[in-house]
Amino acid sequence: MAKDVASMEDSNRSANPSIHEVSDPARRIVLRGGLGVSLAGLLAGCATPAPADKPVTPQPAPLGFKAVAPSTADRVTVPDGYVAQVLAPWGEPVGIAGQPSPEFRFDAGNTAAEQALQMGMHHDGIHYYPLGGADRSDRGLLCLNQEYVDDALLHPDAQKTWTPEKVLKSQNAHGITVIEIERGADASWRLVRPSRHARRITAHTPFAIGGPAAGHVLMRTAADPQGRTVLGTINNCASGKTPWGTYLSGEENWANYFTAADTPTAHERRWGIRAATWYRWPEHDPRFDTVRNPNEPNRFGWVVEVDPMDPASTPVKRTALGRAAHEGAWVAVARDGRAVVYSGEDARFEYLYKFVSRDRIQPAGGGRTAAQANATLLDHGTLYVARFEADGTGRWLPMVHGTGPLTAANGFADQGEVVIKARQAADLLGATKMDRPEWVAIDERTRWVYCTLTNNSQRGAPGQPGVDAANPRANNTMGHIIRWRERGDFSGDGFDWNHLVLAGDPANARAEARGNVKGDVFAGPDTIAFDARGVLWIGTDMPVGTAETSRMGHNQLLACDPATGEVRRFLTAPAGAEITGCTFTPDGRTMFVNVQHPGSGLKRDGTDNPRRISNWPDNRPDGRPRSATLAIRRLDGGVIGA
Ligand code: FEO
Ligand code: CA
Ligand code: CA
Repeated sequence: MAKDVASMEDSNRSANPSIHEVSDPARRIVLRGGLGVSLAGLLAGCATPAPADKPVTPQPAPLGFKAVAPSTADRVTVPDGYVAQVLAPWGEPVGIAGQPSPEFRFDAGNTAAEQALQMGMHHDGIHYYPLGGADRSDRGLLCLNQEYVDDALLHPDAQKTWTPEKVLKSQNAHGITVIEIERGADASWRLVRPSRHARRITAHTPFAIGGPAAGHVLMRTAADPQGRTVLGTINNCASGKTPWGTYLSGEENWANYFTAADTPTAHERRWGIRAATWYRWPEHDPRFDTVRNPNEPNRFGWVVEVDPMDPASTPVKRTALGRAAHEGAWVAVARDGRAVVYSGEDARFEYLYKFVSRDRIQPAGGGRTAAQANATLLDHGTLYVARFEADGTGRWLPMVHGTGPLTAANGFADQGEVVIKARQAADLLGATKMDRPEWVAIDERTRWVYCTLTNNSQRGAPGQPGVDAANPRANNTMGHIIRWRERGDFSGDGFDWNHLVLAGDPANARAEARGNVKGDVFAGPDTIAFDARGVLWIGTDMPVGTAETSRMGHNQLLACDPATGEVRRFLTAPAGAEITGCTFTPDGRTMFVNVQHPGSGLKRDGTDNPRRISNWPDNRPDGRPRSATLAIRRLDGGVIGA
């Protein structure tokens, strides 16, 4: 999200000891070395890993393309020999079988009902699901998030008037979309319409609630006295694909959709719910007014699970994974077959979580798909929160009711209340306050897990936590990528960690903004995803146009060899856009990339009107900038990035 709504959130006033208080400065300098330090050497200085679990160095993934230059053009650039096709912009009809396919109106005149049949706004996380065979790279589904909307673009008269129809159109432009796509004889991609798989999930789609908060008294509302069905999902940011074929999506800045009383409750304040809201839904939809519906916010902030292959399936909010401003959720498989889910919370000074399922992942069989066989897998297990120690080790602290401070005496009646108040629980446990955790990427081959920490302009500010070993820069405008390796197994409770990179331009005057990037400079790491070769792709959401990013151009997608730390620029974004989700066909020969909010956050000729900043991708004078999914391939048909 541009200039992040999340970046404005700072709700953590807990008094956790900051780990810099116990850190060894000399050690911290070593950790800051990041790229220049051999992992074996770093780990040798830490507590000894289990004998049977020797550290594994990240595997090389050579980069085989010529970098593109930084760009300030209102277009997408990719390396020589590549082509980027605009496949699915906001407003494109998705082609739901049996439903109309209303064409996009460039005057934004589509109705709310039409918007519910079209691509939503502001594409974010995305995954490809093959159709007709697990290796099919020419036909499949794309499941993607529509994170938020820009009401100035969504409606013909922006927000000059505000009506129930506008609220509904905004709500229908949110959520999750499933489209069917196929590659043609000329290698370009197209939408298959109509499709029996095509689907829109919006802020009104019924969701089941799974896990310990299902039916909890704090989840009950007048419209849902059982506390077991929620209408909709909002602010869906990043995404993960499960080994059993489903899609996980994080509800991120949901707090900005609610209004509270002039004096919010302590619980509301801890979650960033204020009297004034970013959106105007509560004016016509009382569900988002916490005075009238005090428990409705408790029903958002979850990881949601969707089965893209079954358009009739009911999506589920997985409360066992904890409530948060979830960026997304990513699954690894433990040695014994249990699911391990990592999830960050993109807000200043919030936390990193891990969930380990109680049961093992089940195969398809007996007439059930794998998704059906694992329909309740994520409802039972143990939730943990991360504590990064200054010596390069770390621990996963269990968030289990009755354990440590998580008792009724401290305000947690049961495990349901622990997960609903996960921030408060993590505060009490003394978890490490991070610099806005965004995406997680898991290297299953080496067991290294990576997380982007996009920025934190408040670290070290008066009254705020100072630097610590894991978040080593005050006024961290550039962001960094941390990585850790679980000891013994993904399900373990101890790990060793270091930094892959501290982002920033070495030419910056301010030492804290220089970083240690080896290769093309960037800031604001947000999206990260591994391809099949082990290249770590990095999408940026950086403060474009500031003095400290003046040599970086627009937002970008870069490729990183995690063994050497080399970073190379692969793609540049249109004016005002950030790069969000990134996914591949199984053969690695098509990459789908989302471009979000062109036209946002920049000034041109004294205006910040998005329509004056960008008219990508349509380039028509009566148009309006549109987020879109790109299909990127090599002209010679080769593997992307190789
Ligand atoms: Fe929606 Fe944290 O980016
Ligand atoms: Ca971001
Ligand atoms: Ca993001």
